[in-house]
Amino acid sequence: MAEQHFVGGFSELALGVCYYPEHWPEQDWADDAAQMRALGLRCVRIGEFAWSRLEPQRDQFDFGWLDRAIATLAAENLKVVLCTPTATPPKWLIDEYPEILPKDPISGRERGFGSRRHYDFSSAKYRDEAVRISTILAKRYGDDSRVIGWQTDNELCCHDTAHSWSDSARQAFQGWCQERYGTIAHLNTAWGNVFWSMEYPSFSAIELPFGTVTETNPAHQIAYRRFASDQILRFHDACCSAIGDHASNQWITHNFIPMKDTQTDCFSLAAPLDFVSYDSYPLGRSEFLLGRDEPELARRYMRTGHPDYTAYYLDQCRGLKDRGFWIMEQQPGPVNWAPSNPRPAPGMVTLWTLEAIAHGADVVSYFRWRQAQFAQEQMHAGLLRPDRSRSDAWQEIETVVAALKTLESASLPQPRAHVALVTDVSAQWVSDIEQQGQEVEAHRVTFQFYRALRQLNVTVDIVSPSADLSQYALVVVASMPIVSDTLLEACEQSDATLLFGPRCGAKTEEFQIPTNRAPGVLQSWLDLQVNSVETLRPDVAEPFEYKGKVFQSRLWCEDLAVTNATIEAFYQDKRPALVRKGRCLYLATLTDDAFLRQLLGDLLTEREIVIQELPEDVRMMTRGSVTFAFNYGKEAHTLDAPPSAQVLAGSAKLPPRGFCIWRSE
Ligand code: GAL
Repeated sequence: MAEQHFVGGFSELALGVCYYPEHWPEQDWADDAAQMRALGLRCVRIGEFAWSRLEPQRDQFDFGWLDRAIATLAAENLKVVLCTPTATPPKWLIDEYPEILPKDPISGRERGFGSRRHYDFSSAKYRDEAVRISTILAKRYGDDSRVIGWQTDNELCCHDTAHSWSDSARQAFQGWCQERYGTIAHLNTAWGNVFWSMEYPSFSAIELPFGTVTETNPAHQIAYRRFASDQILRFHDACCSAIGDHASNQWITHNFIPMKDTQTDCFSLAAPLDFVSYDSYPLGRSEFLLGRDEPELARRYMRTGHPDYTAYYLDQCRGLKDRGFWIMEQQPGPVNWAPSNPRPAPGMVTLWTLEAIAHGADVVSYFRWRQAQFAQEQMHAGLLRPDRSRSDAWQEIETVVAALKTLESASLPQPRAHVALVTDVSAQWVSDIEQQGQEVEAHRVTFQFYRALRQLNVTVDIVSPSADLSQYALVVVASMPIVSDTLLEACEQSDATLLFGPRCGAKTEEFQIPTNRAPGVLQSWLDLQVNSVETLRPDVAEPFEYKGKVFQSRLWCEDLAVTNATIEAFYQDKRPALVRKGRCLYLATLTDDAFLRQLLGDLLTEREIVIQELPEDVRMMTRGSVTFAFNYGKEAHTLDAPPSAQVLAGSAKLPPRGFCIWRSE
């Protein structure tokens, strides 16, 4: 058997489920566990919202039910992923310390008890409490061989909880500013507070950037976002240490939401973890992305999710630690939280699971075992319906289990990419703070480049600006207004072709226009300066020319002064739209998809990377000698698998919403 490198301790790819024993009569547990095993599941995540049952009153613990639940699962050879319950502080704790509650950054009102995530990352009291309960659990279960690992909290920052307008946030922010800027004069200069008489007399006078008549200073806003990110990291690092101190033989993970929604430096958030996990809900999330700007696509992929959007997050997860990851929650049917909640097309639960594996997931765990009969998520599907009958997902998971069996003897190293897409949260911060044109958002821009690359059938690593770029042939920095020295050095040390998108280098660290104008530090690579920027209505596109073909410029267009570089594309009035010097290119405008495919295809071909324009609904991915192909569409597609290919599962005549897995030597 080939040597495997799966994260999380299984020696082969595995499936799991999220389970809430505390929601169901204890007499059902044994049968639940037996059915999980019969279905082929290997692990069960429990406990992430169970604080009120673990500690019904301060210092009065009840671990009996949890011990019995773990024993019941273990009796069926199911491994347990135990969570810390810090996403749901119980009522007695909130009553004892009401200052734990966060305040909404828009209304300033307290976000009260009665749902979840009702805590403020700046509350020192809550940090202590989170560490206390994590320590107690880790001491009790840290050596329990039935527990393979831990999940911290649950979906940090979900429900817009990264920011808070509380007194504790204000005080902590003042201290953070003092540490960063040293003197108030320095802060006033760095932020440009002379503008509109915003100068602060002292650190203790600093406000949070909320509730003002019109926009607050962008420098103030980005400082606040950096601070908030640091608070989240501090909270999470403390929780990880508390677990790690008593659970040295068990791993620690966290279930991430899409990186843009955390508003946090996810690379740092992932640092203390053994591996990251992701909660994959393709339908709702695709609808949020496409529903507003591309309703036609949203309709087309209503029951499948966009073919690149889930993969975009999967590749981000792989990039956070440059290793395998888990899907901790996989959508199994309609959810309850999107604007509309369609049923997945038949086959999609299978497809999503295999696709996650193709992009580097080693375990996929479904959310949830049994559909809740009460409380907030009654309308969310599970593998069982509330009466314990089997839902549509069941059969699809059986198909997955059969497909995974065929992979047991295959070597499945992580996917290997020739292309790096560099991102970080600061790009999103800048476009959230100073959007300049409706619909210009860093994550949408980055996603557009990603999907063009994926349509050319190339594997993409999504990496941080401090990653080593030496292994790549093409490095794409689609949107990065603040370019760090580390990124410049990494670019210098690689010999990749470098493509920078519009707005790269346009801001300093303190959110000012660089003294040498945009693209700021990139002028060490490119002899050009941005004269001005215009943004366009979303329903307007203007032609521009590249290699004799006409494409569309849209949303964001820069006017460039170019001194010493080749002009590779022109706006209609012959001004430069794409500039190249040596191996470095600067694109001055956002464009249509066709142009990105053409340009990226040309750059890849120049580097002798094989590209293949895939049908709109088909995507492929390779791990070692195993290739996965997926069909998101309603029509069948016949694939050109290499002649040596040995089909392991699925069929090379890809059925609608179907898959094929083959091995080639
Ligand atoms: C996730 C969350 C779960 C559940 C699920 C519903 O965001 O972690 O607890 O709420 O969504 O889709």
